[in-house]
Amino acid sequence: MICVPPTQLTNLRGKSVKTVTNNKESVSEKSSLSEAAPNPLMTRRLRRRSFLRGLGATSALLVPATTALINNTKAQSSSQNSDSGGQLTKGDASILRFLAAAEIIESDLWEQYWELGNGTLDFASHNPQPGTTLTATNGNAPYIKALQLLDGDMPQYILDNTDDEFSHANFLLAYLNSKGANISELELLVGPHFRTLDKQANGTPISSRATGSTQKPRLTNLTQLTVDTSFWGRYRDDRANPDLGGTNFVQAVPSLNSGKHTAIPRTDADTTSQNGALINAIAFTAGFHFCFIEIGGTSLYPSLALRVRDPEVLRIVLSIGPTEAMHFQTWHDKAGNADAGNPPFTVSDPINNSTVTFTDLTASTNELLQANLIMPEPCPFLSTSFPVCSIVRPTDTVGAAMGAVNALTADGLFTGQTPEFFQLLADLASDADQARR
Ligand SMILES: [Fe+2]
Ligand SMILES: [Fe+2]
Repeated sequence: MICVPPTQLTNLRGKSVKTVTNNKESVSEKSSLSEAAPNPLMTRRLRRRSFLRGLGATSALLVPATTALINNTKAQSSSQNSDSGGQLTKGDASILRFLAAAEIIESDLWEQYWELGNGTLDFASHNPQPGTTLTATNGNAPYIKALQLLDGDMPQYILDNTDDEFSHANFLLAYLNSKGANISELELLVGPHFRTLDKQANGTPISSRATGSTQKPRLTNLTQLTVDTSFWGRYRDDRANPDLGGTNFVQAVPSLNSGKHTAIPRTDADTTSQNGALINAIAFTAGFHFCFIEIGGTSLYPSLALRVRDPEVLRIVLSIGPTEAMHFQTWHDKAGNADAGNPPFTVSDPINNSTVTFTDLTASTNELLQANLIMPEPCPFLSTSFPVCSIVRPTDTVGAAMGAVNALTADGLFTGQTPEFFQLLADLASDADQARR
């Protein structure tokens, strides 16, 4: 996850701002915005409200039936104020709204992986998108076979991760609604408005046309990814912590961190290209992307928990967050099997004009790369004067939500999305990052 430096914090209302640098809080009385000066963020918030009104968004219109049933009267009463937390503090509501947005995004991307990488129905939760019912797709056989090079249980894990994200999104939506918090922006995310990603301008599918895909327009793009695999070195390095200035962690697959790569077959042609080499590379790319997504959630929840006020909201954040870590741990173990037992495996993708090389990390004797070193290595925590400690990292709370948006954007997950979409996410992140205990 990319952390936003404190200098990028915006003081909303000209009040003193707490900044956290190297884990020491300091209170700055210096305001970047005088009372009289126009406040760009406030102006943007006002624009956002008129933007929402222009779209005719009203609470409980687009939420799933089960969510709408919960106290939608309260939600409607607060629909005129997009910042309203109802019975929650504004800060707690903003944090939960941002986490709900992240879970809606996760739901959309995991649904795509499930359609192609599993395709059978064994869900405890429903898709948070209202009016949609999951139907069995039976998956894409060559993609499933390639994923199973990482582990025979990959299809099962993909279904379960998808189910978990659906449940996170549905729960957070229902909880916010039950407290009368405004969820109009989240309704836009779960509804059809931003589910527009279908094809690139040149006709290349963004929503897969391969066997198994429902081919519906998407919220997220899994076909033009730049996957940051530095989580690999970050969790193996016992001398550095991003919260204490650690940078340039070793990438597991450096070539995934440049250029654009697809993590799903775009068409059935991708499954036979280069005698099957391309679909294997696509599946390995997916394996590392699973880690990237779930390690983001692993850091995001504790980072935001630090600014939650209500014990029940804290319980929610502390109870969901570790499941992201469980997901990461599983994927971390499986991704290390890419190319196991083989010489370096290089594949070019003529559509994205990119090349990726996977090496056998199971054979590596470099402790920053070795595949089976999946337990978090102890590292400096809070201060280098303390003994090293095995922890999630980063967990610095400053700018955590915007950092997550920046990381997902750099990942290419939103390639093709509209300026309105980015504005909405930035607004939700900005609000969450303004929350104070
Ligand atoms: Fe989640
Ligand atoms: Fe997740």
